Parts: sequence; C-alpha cells; structure tokens
Amino acid sequence: MHHRWLLLLACFWVLFMLMIVSKFITLTMRSPDGYGIRQGSLTVLPELEKMTVTEARKFQIDSQMCNPSFQPTPDTLKNMTLMDLIHKERRELLRSTCRNGSLGNLSHSIISKFVLDRIFVSDKHKILFCQTPKVGNTQWKKVLIVLNGAFSSIEDIPENVVHDHDKNGLPRLSSYSMADVQERLNSYFKFLIVRDPFERLISAYKDKFVHNPRFEPWYKHNIAPVIIRKYRKDRTEARGGLQFQDFVRYLGDPNHKFLDLQFGDHIIHWITYVDLCAPCEINYNVIGHHETLEEDAPYILREAGIEKLVSYPAIPPGITKYNQSKVEYYFSKVSKRDIRRLYDRFEGDFKLFGYKEPTFLFH
Ligand SMILES: *[C@@H]1O[C@H](CO)[C@@H](O)[C@H](O)[C@H]1NC(C)=O
Ligand SMILES: *[C@@H]1O[C@H](CO)[C@@H](O)[C@H](O)[C@H]1NC(C)=O
Ligand SMILES: *[C@@H]1O[C@H](CO)[C@@H](O)[C@H](O)[C@H]1NC(C)=O
Ligand SMILES: *[C@@H]1O[C@H](CO)[C@@H](O)[C@H](O)[C@H]1NC(C)=O
Repeated sequence: MHHRWLLLLACFWVLFMLMIVSKFITLTMRSPDGYGIRQGSLTVLPELEKMTVTEARKFQIDSQMCNPSFQPTPDTLKNMTLMDLIHKERRELLRSTCRNGSLGNLSHSIISKFVLDRIFVSDKHKILFCQTPKVGNTQWKKVLIVLNGAFSSIEDIPENVVHDHDKNGLPRLSSYSMADVQERLNSYFKFLIVRDPFERLISAYKDKFVHNPRFEPWYKHNIAPVIIRKYRKDRTEARGGLQFQDFVRYLGDPNHKFLDLQFGDHIIHWITYVDLCAPCEINYNVIGHHETLEEDAPYILREAGIEKLVSYPAIPPGITKYNQSKVEYYFSKVSKRDIRRLYDRFEGDFKLFGYKEPTFLFH
C-alpha cells in the first residue's frame, strides 16, 4: 500500500517537471529576436545563458554590490572573471608556498624598516605599492604621484623628481607611526609587480653595471671593484668591468650578507622579492606579473578603484615578454655550480610567484 502511494507521487512529480520544461522550451523558442527572455523578475541575456554558474554568480555580485551603475558587456565580464581567477590562483600559490617549510626562510620575524622603506603610500586612495626594482616600477610610481596630486599628469613629472621623495609627494610607509603602519597594512589595497627572477637579475646587471642610463657612478666605482676583488677567479684580470659571472658568484654566495651591508640600499636592485616586500607577511591583494603587464596593469587600476582617474603609460610592444634566449646567452659563461647556487638563493622567488625552474640552464 505504502509503495503504491510513493509510486503515484513520483509519477505526478515527473509529469509536473515535464510541464515546466515544455513551458520553458516554448518560451525560449518564442524569443528569436535575441533580446532575451523574461522569467519572473530576472531578465536573462542570450549570451549570459552560456555562462557557468560561478560566472553568473560573479556577475550578480559585481553588478549589484561593487558598482551598481556599472553595466558590463558579456565580453568584459568574461575577461574580468578570468582575470579574477588567475589572480586568486596567484594568491593561493603564494599562501601555500609560504607555509612550505622545505623552501628555507621565506618569512620575516617582523616587518622591518627596510621593507617599510620599499612601500609607497597613497592615503588619498588607500593604496600601498611595494617597489621591486627592475620590474617597471618607475611607471607605477608615476601613477601614484599623479594620484596623490603633486602633478596633474604623468607627462608633467620630471624624471629626476620620480625618485626624489622629498619632492614627489609619495611618502614611504616607514615615515608613519607604528599604529598608522598597521592600520594601512590592514585596510589599504596592496600590490606589487614581479617578473622572472633571473631576467630581473640580468636587467639589474645591465642597467647598473653596463649601461647605467642614470648618473650613478657608485655602481661602477664602489660596488663593482669590491665584487671583482672577492669573486673573480683570475683576480689579475681586472679588465672589462664587472662581468655577469662575477655578479652571479656574489649573488649565489651564501655569505653575501657581508657585502650587502657594505653596499647599503643599492642592493634593492638584486635582492629577492622576499627580502624586499615580505610577501608571506603582507597580504597583497594583487600580484602583478611583468610578463602579463598588458592585462595586469588595467586589472590593478580597476581593483584599486582608480581606473577612471589614471591610466598606466603605454607599454612598448614586446618588452614584457620572457626571453629565454637572452637568459641562455647571459648564463652561457657561468659555471653550472654557480647557477645552482644562484637558483638556491632565488628558489623562493621562483616558487612563490609561479615561475618555472630554468632547467635549461642546468644541463
Ligand atoms: C577580452 O580579452 C581579449 C583577450 O585578452 C581581448 O582581445 C578583448 O578585447 C577583451 N574584451 C574586452 C571587452 O575587454
Ligand atoms: C614544498 O616544496 C618542495 C620543494 O620545492 C616541493 O617538492 C613540495 O611539493 C612542496 N610541498 C607543498 C605542500 O607544496
Ligand atoms: C629569517 O630568519 C631570521 C631568524 O628567525 C629572521 O630574523 C629573518 O627575518 C628571516 N627572514 C628573512 C627573509 O631573512
Ligand atoms: C631576446 O634576446 C636576444 C639577446 O638579447 C635578442 O637578440 C632578441 O632580439 C630577443 N628576442 C626578443 C623576441 O625580444
């Protein structure tokens, strides 16, 4: 008896569902004009039907909560969602790698004054930017200088003022009291930009010891001779200035700290992202990659809520792309042992930010 009732109930249920489905199909068929169908109060655009559930939920969250006046087209919507996913993955990789004890010391016991010196502040827009030299940071500093109001456009900022923190209205986080530092770290939008760690070192070497477009004689006159004296195999051959292989030997030396102290803040151009920005302690909202700057720069502006106020300067085509032959070329004269040592020092930077181990250099 009991079973028969259940069966009957199931039959009614199936019939009921069939009715709903057929109703839905006729409604859809009657909408050939492409303007979408109306179901109760929810209007569904035809393009949106192709979206996954999470994408659709994201759309609702974005359009309802974040910016009620913002009307995204389905195309920008898909881009935004993909970017959100990519950046979420970057943050998650960072978090899990920070917890991985087998990668050595990625953590700072305290956020030191040295790290706070690397972070620039926009109080007006509640933004913190950690500087990672050789990764296109000058342009970001210009963006923040304009935001803070010292200059009205990026083109107006004289080159010598960009790095002059008495004149550019871009304070360092270290200039605030402890309580103010903590409050800003907890509540502001925080970002940094990284790139392949070995390409960054090549860029630092070229920019500081080969060409040096700025007037910075201390790299060639005070730093290079000290490295050559300590690390060049044939010390009698002092010709040619600092070679890349000398530079790599210094960087990969487990006792590099001794010279670092002597070189002062100039080391910011070649020490690790871990040392510069404390990424395991500071919860950065966005980690930009130089290699995808064309997409990451607008994403950062949007996430920081400043996309209507400034834009990132035009990026010359091709400069952000990772160039393996360049890396091979520079490392071709470096011994395998020294490359290994260098990698050991920078392994944290590779792993935290998802850069592939350059295995082509090891054999
Ligand atoms: C979406 O991304 C693609 C590829 O990055 C790009 O070509 C397209 O212009 C983007 N669309 C919008 C509306 O931003
Ligand atoms: C930790 O790092 C090591 C060395 O890179 C790796 O082999 C291991 O899979 C990592 N563990 C986790 C849990 O990520
Ligand atoms: C490494 O460990 C020491 C001692 O615990 C600590 O003082 C230091 O901040 C750590 N982090 C780095 C990046 O050196
Ligand atoms: C890669 O680097 C090499 C050596 O510096 C250079 O000749 C080449 O043009 C670069 N390739 C690209 C695509 O930029």
